[in-house]
Amino acid sequence: MNPPAPSPVATEVGGRPLESIRAEFPILSRHVNGAPLSYLDNGATVQKPAAVIEAVDGFYREHCSNVHRGSHTLSAEATALYEGARTRVAALLGGDRREIVFTRNVTAAINLAAQAWGIDNLGPGDRIVLTEMEHHSNIVPWHLVAQRTGAILDWVGIDDDGRIDREALTAAIGRGPKVVAVTHVSNVLGTVLPVAEIVAKAKAAGALTLVDGAQAVPRMPVDVKKIGADFYGFTGHKLYGPTGIGVLYGRRELLDSMEPFEGGGSMINKVSKEQITWADTPAKFEAGTPPIAQAAGLGAAVEWVESVGLEAIGEHERELTDYALPRLAEVPGLKVFGPTDMTDREGLISFEIDGIHPHDVSEILDRHGVAVRAGHHCAQPLMKRLGVTATTRASFAAYNSTTEVDRLVEGLHDARRIFGL
Ligand SMILES: Cc1ncc(COP(=O)(O)O)c(C=O)c1O
Repeated sequence: MNPPAPSPVATEVGGRPLESIRAEFPILSRHVNGAPLSYLDNGATVQKPAAVIEAVDGFYREHCSNVHRGSHTLSAEATALYEGARTRVAALLGGDRREIVFTRNVTAAINLAAQAWGIDNLGPGDRIVLTEMEHHSNIVPWHLVAQRTGAILDWVGIDDDGRIDREALTAAIGRGPKVVAVTHVSNVLGTVLPVAEIVAKAKAAGALTLVDGAQAVPRMPVDVKKIGADFYGFTGHKLYGPTGIGVLYGRRELLDSMEPFEGGGSMINKVSKEQITWADTPAKFEAGTPPIAQAAGLGAAVEWVESVGLEAIGEHERELTDYALPRLAEVPGLKVFGPTDMTDREGLISFEIDGIHPHDVSEILDRHGVAVRAGHHCAQPLMKRLGVTATTRASFAAYNSTTEVDRLVEGLHDARRIFGL
């Protein structure tokens, strides 16, 4: 098969040549199995620009110290980096810096909200509304709280295009839930959920609302005040930042009213043998030495995405998706799950190929240097709804190109050849 003519689409991101964006990511010059790396596993984690790698390295080389406790220069510098990252994240999300709690990842953020709020506020028969599109990170924490409180999970399904079933949503909210917890963007289907509308309806019914923004924050501007959710979480490593840091935004009054989740150093005001008083939010929820180097890296990552522009990053990924969908349709026996048009859809594409297991697909793609994910994507209820146990997923980031999509498609044709199809 002849390679397609070079495509004029997706060659610029926010007015910058794609090549100059790519040049900022050291790992992209790598070869894998003799082929140039085509990293299309960005839904799992995103590669890091040099600015982020240097911020983490610079922390350990120049400023390494613990935060909030020392009266020496290094400690003041570390504290400035850590708290500076909080200020940057608050500005990114449109919240107040006291509403930003640093956690290990978004999983820890959702567990914090579910446990610290749920244990004190949920009881037998109370409903927790989730959608079939949730990642296990926004399912299992609610299961745990339900087991301890007697609350029950109430599921909202999806239609055959992979969009939320609005009638089922209205019915679930009509049953008077105590919690409505939804993903902003599906990590499997790329579907964008109408979170502001869902939150408004849930709030009108008196429910607490939480949005899992893990796949949204890296590819669109997010304003937590406009969405109106009580809690909004994301994870640093998918936003071009380091692993080991996540964010829970929580409405100030809500965080103030909650008991701490974990106890230890840094989250107290006074401790005696008999009594403890808590530090103010957000410190009340950040027990022990926090992820300081990771915060320095996250601060640099926020600066980086803002310099490129999240609107532009999302647009670039959508252009790649728009290019990839018809190219994937050229592969005989390939079926895409989720929306096949570009309405309310972001740059993650799940598919299967008739007659080849997703793990075999990804292994053969790896021989071509193409990294994709195969499996259930931590979304087993969704896999069940789709009638599969696994899919292959290609997911895009700011640095991906149509050439990489072409390599993906070539690799898929090769997989079919190898399987004699
Ligand atoms: C929608 C969604 N939620 C939650 C997570 C969990 O992220 P982390 O493992 O960083 O907590 C992911 C990661 O794959 C995700 O895609």
